[in-house]
Formats: sequence, C-alpha cells, structure tokens
Amino acid sequence: LRVAVLTGGGDCPGLNAAIRAVARSCFALDWTVLGVKNGWAGLLGEGQIEELNRKSVSGILHLGGTILGTSRTNPMKREEDMAQVQDNLKRYEIDALVAIGGDDTLSVAKRLHELGVKVVGVPKTMDNDLSETDYCIGFDSAVQVVMEALDRLHTTASAHHRVLVVEVMGRDAGWVAVEGGLAGGADLILIPEVPTDIDRVCRHLERRRAAGKDFSIIVVAEGVQMPDLLVRETVPSEVDAFGHVRLDKRGVGETLAKQIEKKTGFETRVTVLGHLQRGGSPSVTDRVNGTRFGVAAVQLIREGKFGYMPALKGNKVVPVKLADAVARTKTVDVEYYKLAELFY
Ligand code: F6P
Repeated sequence: LRVAVLTGGGDCPGLNAAIRAVARSCFALDWTVLGVKNGWAGLLGEGQIEELNRKSVSGILHLGGTILGTSRTNPMKREEDMAQVQDNLKRYEIDALVAIGGDDTLSVAKRLHELGVKVVGVPKTMDNDLSETDYCIGFDSAVQVVMEALDRLHTTASAHHRVLVVEVMGRDAGWVAVEGGLAGGADLILIPEVPTDIDRVCRHLERRRAAGKDFSIIVVAEGVQMPDLLVRETVPSEVDAFGHVRLDKRGVGETLAKQIEKKTGFETRVTVLGHLQRGGSPSVTDRVNGTRFGVAAVQLIREGKFGYMPALKGNKVVPVKLADAVARTKTVDVEYYKLAELFY
C-alpha cells in the first residue's frame, strides 16, 4: 500500500514520534510512506508530497515541532479545495491517509471519510480537548512547561510579595490551566468552563492577604469567560481559517492583571506563556503515546477501519469514530477543577 501522513493545526511536541511510528509500522509491512507537507495545504495545488524513508524518520523522536510542517489551512471552506484534495490523493496513488491533528484537522478527515476517502486520524492537541480519548499528543509537554514556569514564578512572586497572573493556552477547555496549575501549586485557576467575575477574583486575593499569604499566583486560560473583564475586541482579520478568534489578541492576562492592581492595590505582573507551551522536546508521555497512536493508526488501516482514530481509554489504545471525537469539545470535569480549589 501507499500510505500518506500529514500533521495539521498547531504544532506540539510528540508529532514526530507519531510520524516515526506510522512510517516504521508501514516499513515493517513493506508499504510506501508519503509525507504531506504543511497539513491540508500540502494536498492543494500541485501537492507538496515526498516519499519518507528510514533515514528521513530517524533521529526525530526527541524533536519538537513536526518534520512535515503544519498549517491551519481549511479545505472545507471551498468545494473546489475538497475536490483538489481528493484529486491529489488519486494522482499520488495514495491508498490511505493518516491525519494527525485536533478538532479542526480531524473534522476535515471526517468529511473526507464521508466522501469515500480512506482516512484514519491520530489525536493531537495540547488543549487535550478532543472527545472520546483521555489523551491527545502535546498535552503533557505543555503542562510540563506550565509547571516549570510556575515553579520559577513562585520564587519571584514570594520575594516581591506580588500577584502574578500567568496566561496559558486553552480556548474552550481549561485542561492545561487546571493540570498545570495543580502541578505548579496555583493559588487560583480560571478556566473557560467556569465563568467568574473580577470582584470574585479580587475578594479571593484579599482573603489570602488577610490570612498572611503575601503573594498569589493566578493561572488563567486564554479563553476564560469573565463578562466584566474588558478584553480587547478582536477584528475579523484575527480569525483563522476554521473561524476561531486569535485569543492571544484578547490580552486576557494583561487585562486581568491591570484590573486586579487597580481594584486591590496589590502590585501585579503578568506572564504570557504562549507558544513556549508548544515548543521543546516531547515528554515521556508524548513520545510514548505518539508512538502508540502512530502504530495503532497503521493497524486501523490494516483492518480497513477507516473513519476511526486510536484513542487512549484508561491505559488501553482503542479505536473510536472520528465523527464522535469531533462531535463536541471535551471540557474539564467540574469535580476535577474543584480538587484544585482545595489548595487555594
Ligand atoms: O492548537 C490549539 C492552540 O494551541 C490553542 O490553545 C491556541 O489558542 C492556539 O492553538 C494558538 O494558535 P496559533 O498557533 O495559530 O497562534
């Protein structure tokens, strides 16, 4: 068989582990592997597709990013583009496609499957918010960055007796904020799933001061819902091809820090972790799960289980339907969020 693999959406550590696993599993079966460059963009126009060999996937396990490149290109925006993707798959004689990505990338894969393309997915998003899987590649490495940042920020917050606001990624789901905040000992975690208001945040900080805690660290997810927080309005040019607003433009952390300082008088600073959360070497979990998912994706192709992706459930890798994985966002369980509250 000729199997193509692509990575779409935001990059993150662990993608190369998955690419390597797909390729090595195919080589073991004497199949040909083609690397599609830059996500769905690589299947438009003339196609940006190259054969992968043992050499091209060697020495990449420990590397962040993706050797294939990625993009947020959305071929579903134009029917002609969807047709061109299918034409290119035929032209390059691709028998099966492995799409590694999050909600956006896998929504395209799901649509292609409905159109008769033989495609399987691999769950990847540092937001960890795909349904039907306990884990998505990139999450653990991101949380590790948040934890290390909080460790560093603790010492400076304590030395200066300041409030430190740490903005982390997380559009609709606060997994990175909650898990990173739990691991790094945050004094307050604000996530999109649990709306709050500025007064409640300030009252919490004042209570902590009154109890003798002379510094506080707040972890805030960029997608937090605080109606009275006057975040910057986003303009249409700040919306990506899948219709998502560029949340970094909202300035949630900066606005929150300013308003806290104004309302409480506590000296406040902000750190925006941004793309640091998507960089660097993959953690053990991302290398191992990337590898397990990559191998399982090829197994799905062998079994003819198209329109599926491997998912982690407990410690088992099991097939789930792409349609179910992208049907809704896996948001943070409120009970889990409450666990962190115990340590505020
Ligand atoms: O891929 C998901 C994500 O990491 C979001 O949490 C974040 O809002 C977004 O990507 C940032 O996207 P970009 O890389 O396009 O700035």
